[in-house]
Amino acid sequence: MSMTEPRELFLHDLRDIYYAEQLLTTALPKLAEEATDPKLKEGFEKHLQQTKEHVNRLEQVFAILDEDATGEKCPGIDGIKAEHDKFMKDEDPSPEICDAFLTGAGARAEHYEIAAYSGLITLGDALGERDAVELFEQNLADEKAALAELETAAKKLATAAKA
Ligand SMILES: [Fe+2]
Ligand SMILES: [Fe+2]
Repeated sequence: MSMTEPRELFLHDLRDIYYAEQLLTTALPKLAEEATDPKLKEGFEKHLQQTKEHVNRLEQVFAILDEDATGEKCPGIDGIKAEHDKFMKDEDPSPEICDAFLTGAGARAEHYEIAAYSGLITLGDALGERDAVELFEQNLADEKAALAELETAAKKLATAAKA
């Protein structure tokens, strides 16, 4: 059966980011462990706590919509994770290169989440789901802040890796 309702697309996208956020709660501890730079480590740990809150907010959205909180397998975020895993396995990077790499891996995930929440906000606005949109906006603000921190760290670590 073909999808014809914007609300179905909204739910699909919600399930997609719900899957992605859950995956990130298991990926971020690994990134924190792999990072050598204390500030980068701390940044991943902080974003892990925020990510747990993101999952929580999405569960609130499911409740608002009166739908079961279930994820929909998201090949996009799986691919970002697979890219990270492959690099770490194949390249066995030095600590400096590893830190520089991790800022890029993290930034890829943040860009994915930012695109997902921006889309959900647009759809949610069109559907009049004001309470859901407010929760998405809170998550989006965290993702944007996390991306900005990663970009700052990337500049610092790229210079350090060169030295
Ligand atoms: Fe998130
Ligand atoms: Fe994030």
